[in-house]
Amino acid sequence: MSPDQRHADVLEKYSRFVNPYLAKLMHFAGFGLEVQGEGCYIIDHEGRRFLDCLGGYGVYALGHRHPKVIEAVKRQLDLMPLSGKAFFNANLADLAAKIAEITPSGLELTFFSNSGAEAVEAALKFVKASTRRTKIVATDGGYHGKTIGALSVTGREKYRRPFEPLMPGGVFVPYGDVDAIVGAIDGDTAACIIEPIQGEGGIHVPPDGYLRAIREACDRHGALMIADEVQTGLGRTGDLFGCDHDRVSPDVMTLAKAFGGGVMPIGATVATPAVFERVYSENPLAHTSTFGGNPLACAAGLASIQVVEEEGLCERARLIGGVLREGLQSVADRHTDLVSEVRGRGLMIGVEFTMDDVGELTIAQMVKRGLVAAYTLNNRRVIRFEPPLIMTEAQAVWAAETFGEALAETAEVLATLV
Ligand SMILES: Cc1ncc(COP(=O)(O)O)c(C=O)c1O
Repeated sequence: MSPDQRHADVLEKYSRFVNPYLAKLMHFAGFGLEVQGEGCYIIDHEGRRFLDCLGGYGVYALGHRHPKVIEAVKRQLDLMPLSGKAFFNANLADLAAKIAEITPSGLELTFFSNSGAEAVEAALKFVKASTRRTKIVATDGGYHGKTIGALSVTGREKYRRPFEPLMPGGVFVPYGDVDAIVGAIDGDTAACIIEPIQGEGGIHVPPDGYLRAIREACDRHGALMIADEVQTGLGRTGDLFGCDHDRVSPDVMTLAKAFGGGVMPIGATVATPAVFERVYSENPLAHTSTFGGNPLACAAGLASIQVVEEEGLCERARLIGGVLREGLQSVADRHTDLVSEVRGRGLMIGVEFTMDDVGELTIAQMVKRGLVAAYTLNNRRVIRFEPPLIMTEAQAVWAAETFGEALAETAEVLATLV
């Protein structure tokens, strides 16, 4: 079968056996078949190389197939890939200890799962069991996953409505508004769940002191604070964790995406001993997962943290993030009618357009030129740039220039429509 025939075959199978509606959407954006990942690039069925500025929605902080993570996973694969569950596992113990070392003070114990939504599900159960309260303060546009619990605190009606009734107790306030969130946290509140930078809502950076104000409000009312670091964790924002920016220690932190080093799926819910005591002391099996904390995922997690530390990827995120943001801003300055803002921190950058559809058209032009990005799930007016933190300065400059060419062509197309 030729590469083109194989592409057509896969497209047809997606349409018949996977999800015809999703297949149409992906095909419209111009994506082919992914065949290989390498550093900052994805290679498709025609051998074309795409600079990956989507980064698997934040998964590829270390790039594709980082050799140290691959090596750690291969080594474990030859010993025992999954856990027998009855025995102690050294990888799991080492990773949990390392997480306790690198997360903000007070976070010491980790429950392992396999995805962001699962990490959030555990967090929600933990805060409910800890406080015996049900109210969860969350934010409009916030994204925490699509399982029932995580969806219940995800701030977008479009995703929630078809599945209602969801878990009760979710209360939503605008993101970034200190008074609104502090005012919503009261004596009935089990927890406030917050993304240190709102990712899928459109890369919104809150004002300095926002997380600290939430921490203080939670303390005043005996509520807990959940920092959802599924997207911001492991260096993406230029700090190891997004809440480091405000020097805040939450009671519970969720991690996933980049933690598997772009090689293994992993989820983690890190919490204080006080939280674990209330959840597990009477029943050590109160919340469990068959695959969570499996030896392969933990080997990948350990190797990933090591790479972030050894290669100074937090500093890189800050440095290369500055270069990319500057480049995108200069494109925005040439198209003030189409771009309303470029914002972000580290290598978590969003470009907001003044109109719907500009993002979709521009992404198609970017893909044509070998650059992959996507809009944020809860806000189609924002294209997100979340490339690997190992990106070079030259790649960042090229990405911004290519975005500029794509936007210029979109502007021409739009001009012919008026
Ligand atoms: C902040 C945040 N929390 C949770 C999730 C859900 O993660 P997953 O898709 O792995 O379930 C996401 C996914 O984008 C996220 O960005």
